[in-house]
Amino acid sequence: MNADLIIYNIGQLVTAKEFSNLKEGESSMENIEIIQNGYLAVSDGEIVGIGQGDVPSKFIKFTTKLIDAEGRVVTPGLIDSHTHLVHGGSRENEFLDKIQGVPYLEILKKGGGILSSVKSTQNATEKELILKAKNTLKVMLGFGVTTVESKSGYGLDRETELKQLYVNKKLNQEQEVEIISTFMGAHALPEEFKDNRERFINSVIELLPEIKEKKLAEFFDVFCEEGVFSIEESRKMLLEAKKHSFKLRLHADEIVNIGGAELAVEVGAYSADHLMAISDNGIQALKNSKTIANLLPGTSFSLNKDYAPARKMIDAGVQVALSTDYNPGSCPTENLQLIMQIAALKLKMRPKEIFKAVTINAAKSLGKEKKIGSLEIGKKADFVIFDAQNIEYILYHFGVNHTKKVFKNGCLVFKK
Ligand code: NIG
Ligand code: FE
Repeated sequence: MNADLIIYNIGQLVTAKEFSNLKEGESSMENIEIIQNGYLAVSDGEIVGIGQGDVPSKFIKFTTKLIDAEGRVVTPGLIDSHTHLVHGGSRENEFLDKIQGVPYLEILKKGGGILSSVKSTQNATEKELILKAKNTLKVMLGFGVTTVESKSGYGLDRETELKQLYVNKKLNQEQEVEIISTFMGAHALPEEFKDNRERFINSVIELLPEIKEKKLAEFFDVFCEEGVFSIEESRKMLLEAKKHSFKLRLHADEIVNIGGAELAVEVGAYSADHLMAISDNGIQALKNSKTIANLLPGTSFSLNKDYAPARKMIDAGVQVALSTDYNPGSCPTENLQLIMQIAALKLKMRPKEIFKAVTINAAKSLGKEKKIGSLEIGKKADFVIFDAQNIEYILYHFGVNHTKKVFKNGCLVFKK
């Protein structure tokens, strides 16, 4: 099979293909393939060849574009599987309070926090939201991110939630990064529903058929947290969403442990996210399930909170993903490479585990592992050439962008 693009002389080709026989001392998240001195052949946006050493001549035709990676690292396009991409405004007005120790949930209670971003998002036009999100995605793409999950949840009313989800749809048509859309109508309780929680919860449930019918979201998510939505309230909404064929994910055990991880497993969620306050029981539940533990250490860093017990989870056999949680409050950064570096320094995750977490495991958390997340024949040619000779260097040298080139569907979409 001829190729139209070949990358050769790859120092470390992280295919992120999983293997089952672990080596002595390796964790269940270090089972990803790394080919030394590899090549990658692409045709029509898909991977048609992958291997070690010289490129077989069968792939090369007169018009094949050949790129010498000069011994650099190549990985699958990174996947940011938890973001609050679409929103109006920013919240630097709360920053001083925040760094002086006013708790996150305290700011929210006073009508700030999420509720302040809700106002800005309600006031923004669709056009403004698209423009802002496009600029964000451009930055993300530059960091090597080719797929982004994007939640609504800064509307909390029908009109604005639908506006956010329409923006997700438009973004998929108007720029290169692939968007996976999530409806998160239960992100906070609007003030006017303070004395009528049930009415708000029912209003979220009532939106489900319309969103499904208009194909505006694939996933449904809830902020299950003390003082936000309880286990019982979250369960009710999640099960309704499931009835309407939404796939599920859940903000679980972020600040207070209320059994969010267990609930995520119980309802068959694709991911349980945050987990900074997960219990041993929650770890056991995740271990015996297909639910991915989606960790967001940038949020711990930014809120000055405990980190999720990643080592304990991985050593217990839990599969972990890593994401930015990009949002205007608890984690205003697009930089997934920084999150990976924090995962190394603070979560004590090992290099292979970290690359697995932002590739194949992130893809699994989105139910997209058949198409993206690893470099294998027949999968999408989404990949990154890093300006580094090995994966350790990318994690060790923190705070800079190591991307050299990014390819989406076999096309060059970013170049340093
Ligand atoms: O994942 N936890 C709830 N939602 C976001 C924060 C949103 C915000 O503060 O605007 C999070 O941390
Ligand atoms: Fe979040």
